Parts: sequence; C-alpha cells; structure tokens
Amino acid sequence: MNSIIKNDCIDIYEEYIKDLKKLSGKRILITGGSGFLLSYFVYLFLYFNEKNKRKIDVHILDQNTKKFDYLKNKQNFTLINSDITKKKKFTVNYNYIIHGASIASPVFYKKKPIETITSNVDGLLNILNNYKFSKSLKSMIFMSSSEIYGDPDKKNIPTKETYKGNVSCVGPRACYDESKRLGETISTIFYNKFKVPIKIVRPFNVYGPGQSLKDKRIFPDLMNNIKRNKDIILYSDGTPTRSFCYISDQIRGILEVLFRGKNGEPYNVGNTDEISIEGIAKLAVRLSKKSLKVKIKVNSDKTFNIDSPKRRCPDLKKIYRLNKWQPKIKLKTGLLRTINYYKTENL
Ligand SMILES: NC(=O)c1ccc[n+]([C@@H]2O[C@H](COP(=O)([O-])OP(=O)(O)OC[C@H]3O[C@@H](n4cnc5c(N)ncnc54)[C@H](O)[C@@H]3O)[C@@H](O)[C@H]2O)c1
Repeated sequence: MNSIIKNDCIDIYEEYIKDLKKLSGKRILITGGSGFLLSYFVYLFLYFNEKNKRKIDVHILDQNTKKFDYLKNKQNFTLINSDITKKKKFTVNYNYIIHGASIASPVFYKKKPIETITSNVDGLLNILNNYKFSKSLKSMIFMSSSEIYGDPDKKNIPTKETYKGNVSCVGPRACYDESKRLGETISTIFYNKFKVPIKIVRPFNVYGPGQSLKDKRIFPDLMNNIKRNKDIILYSDGTPTRSFCYISDQIRGILEVLFRGKNGEPYNVGNTDEISIEGIAKLAVRLSKKSLKVKIKVNSDKTFNIDSPKRRCPDLKKIYRLNKWQPKIKLKTGLLRTINYYKTENL
C-alpha cells in the first residue's frame, strides 16, 4: 500500500477505532469498491485486519475489480466482479453496505447517461429489494452527491441539506444529478416503508491519492500535467468555485454517518474551503514548485460547462451535530499529499 494512503488509513483507524471495532466479525459490502473514493475503505479494512484478531469480512463489488486482484486469495476479502444493475439476486447476509457504484466523472457520465442512471437507480433497487427484510443489516449508505443541489443561488451558499436544489432535468448533467436525486428518494422510501437503516451521503468534490489519471475530473487532470511538466489548461473561465475535501476527511465523514447518522436522512460531507478553479490550479502549481502556466481555453465541446454550478460550498452543521465531526485536512496539506502521491507513484 502506498505510504501516503497508509498514513491516512492509520489516522482514520486511530480516530475511529471504537466504531471500527463494531465491524469486527461482521460482513460489509462495498459497491464501486475499486473506484477512487471507496478503495480507501478497502485499504482501511486491510489495515484493520492486520491489527485485529477478529477480522472484518469485506466484499468488494465492482464491474472492474482488477485493481484488487492481489486480494483474490486473501482471507476475509471477496471480489465480486459484477455490474450492479444486472445483479438481481444476493445470497450473502451483509451487516453493513456502502453503495457507491456509479459513473462519477462528468466527461464519462455524459457519454454513458443510461448506465449512469441505472447504476444509481436499478443498482440501488437491486440491493434494497434483496435486503428490505434483512434482520442482519445494521446500516447502509447511499453515495449521493452535492450535484443534487444543481446550481444554487447566492442565498443558499453554503448549502444546507434542506435546500431543494436548482437542477435541470433535461441538461447534459441531468443523468447524474437526477439519478442521484431519485436514488435519494428511493432510499427514503425504503426507510419509511421497510425500515431499511439507510443513510444518504452527499460528498462535495473529493480529491486525494488514488484517483485514476484518466478520470478527467479537475484533480487528475491537474496532477497529470504537473507530473508530466505540462502547462495547465482550464476549460472554463476559471471563476467557478468548488470546496475541495481531502479523501481521508470524506472517509471519516462516511464513517460518521454510517455509525451515527439518522436513517432515511441526507448528510453533506465536505470542506468549507471554497476556492476558484483557477485558484486551485495556481495553488497546485505553486506547491509543486514547478514553473508551469495556467491557461484558459474554450472547450470545443459546447455542452462542457452547461449547468455546471458557479459556486459550491457545503453547510456542515448537520454532520457536526452527530459527534462534532469536521474536516481536519487543510487544502494546502491535502494538496501536498496528493502531489507527492502522484510524484512517487509510477502511473
Ligand atoms: N469523488 C467525488 O468527488 C464524489 C463526489 C460526489 C459523489 N461521489 C459519489 O461517490 C461514489 C464514488 O465516487 P468515485 O469518485 O470513487 O468514482 P469512481 O469513478 O472512481 O468509482 C466508481 C466505481 O464504480 C464502479 N461502477 C460504475 N458503474 C458500475 C456498475 N454498474 N456496477 C458495478 N460497478 C460500477 C466503477 O467501475 C468504479 O470503480 C460515486 O457514487 C459518486 O457518484 C463522488
């Protein structure tokens, strides 16, 4: 395991040890477990199992589990190479489930809108229909997104969970935004009707080690250029803002909601350090100590910026109320860890 990822996992482990011990001897399903975000849970549980006698039984479901081939014969790890939208029958009893299988990068979800919708809707229904009467399921997370807020007006920034959103149902981003919204509706219905202990997490722009350089979201593009000594090209005017959350904070937030969140309710998980796209690009270049330029270029794809939010920043009071949760990693610290990760990894 990469040392930066391992150190992040140790920090999370030490802070959340009491909660993580509740998973000892239990079985957890992570869908989308080979992806950027949820791989961190795999690393965290690998570390947990190294340190503890009573292990966590980890099942990783992804349509591409190649990344974890090395775990094939490892005790307490099961790889399920499967498309969640086609998996109608589950035969294993799970105690915990995190459903994150979805296309998540705008470039790819615009290319595969139907697959994006089905993973968030049919995939979620496949799981819930199998576990709606489960006696063993203790807690489940649906990975939604801050995108369900669309493009909020000024007075709704920072954005609270109660904000209903300003979302286009026909624009190029609708397949993602609306399927996450429907996923949230389905989650609340299954809680109200069947008492499935499901909670909703709304992540705000996560960054950090482990994201594929082919992902085509802002961070992998930035890191790719820095690694290869290429100037940074921005495909917007650089003014839209985002609030970037370092991955270990996101994982801490998901754990917080998994263990203490209220069933049937959504929680923002992110960081309030709002910065413009141009600002983050310039800061990353400065921290990398390379003399690269940040250039603005109009994207030939006319749909590229349609419905893209002008600002995004979470209100974090709701998750704070659970157990005083707040993000710990400052933007500069997280950026340095991320830059160092890409510098040292042979990608
Ligand atoms: N990373 C972020 O900033 C962010 C922000 C908001 C929401 N989210 C949500 O968190 C989850 C994880 O995001 P990520 O950044 O790790 O994305 P990712 O693209 O890195 O990982 C997603 C994983 O899901 C898998 N997958 C996609 N469709 C599938 C299907 N039909 N069946 C099985 N596996 C499938 C992919 O193979 C991939 O490994 C997603 O649901 C995403 O929408 C992420």
